[in-house]
Amino acid sequence: MATTITFYGHATFGVNVDGTNLVIDPFLAPNNPLATVTADDVEADYVLITHGHGDHIADAIGIAQRTGATTISNYEIYQWLEKNGVEKAHPLHIGGGFDFPFGRVKLTIAHHGSALPDGSNGGNPAGILLTLNDGKRIYFAGDTALTYDMKLIGDAGGVDLAVLPIGDNFTMGPEDAIRAAEFVKAKHVIPCHYNTFPPIQQDPIAFAADLKQATGIDCTVMQVDDILEC
Ligand code: NI
Ligand code: MN
Repeated sequence: MATTITFYGHATFGVNVDGTNLVIDPFLAPNNPLATVTADDVEADYVLITHGHGDHIADAIGIAQRTGATTISNYEIYQWLEKNGVEKAHPLHIGGGFDFPFGRVKLTIAHHGSALPDGSNGGNPAGILLTLNDGKRIYFAGDTALTYDMKLIGDAGGVDLAVLPIGDNFTMGPEDAIRAAEFVKAKHVIPCHYNTFPPIQQDPIAFAADLKQATGIDCTVMQVDDILEC
């Protein structure tokens, strides 16, 4: 099974699983100052959304309407997407998972906010745990503080890849992200949610070195539009 990850900037990723395209937290050009790809360019079969903030959902409706992709989100965001013209939407909620054709999606605990761009109630924020059909596990922490609940993921076998925010200010900073990588027993880490806005400036190369030194865990710092095989 071939899986690739594309970084679009900030916390927006594409995951291609044997030709099925997942887009995580779509926030693309020109709204996302780091992104080069727009909502008109990206291919999507599924759009997965961790929480309601604009820097994670700005392009979800546009992509879903253009491509006919199915959105996957918590129940409150699902209701908002349907109200706003998204036809194929699958609701989940925290602690629950569902087996899609490409693998299982489970929403995990995140400590953050989730208000939608128009002020609607976006429910509780979440992380996303993907278990692909080949058994590979990829954890998108979403916007969150470090939480002891991450140990539940580590205790349940850990993850092959953890995508963790390191920006500080709105989410975990680098020191807490190192502890998160240990809690979820990550084999590999990709940092995100940094350098998009002035309050979240970080040095991801220093983070990667500190993570390796403290834990032995490998880290890949992706440049925008990099594609990683995993
Ligand atoms: Ni947020
Ligand atoms: Mn965010």
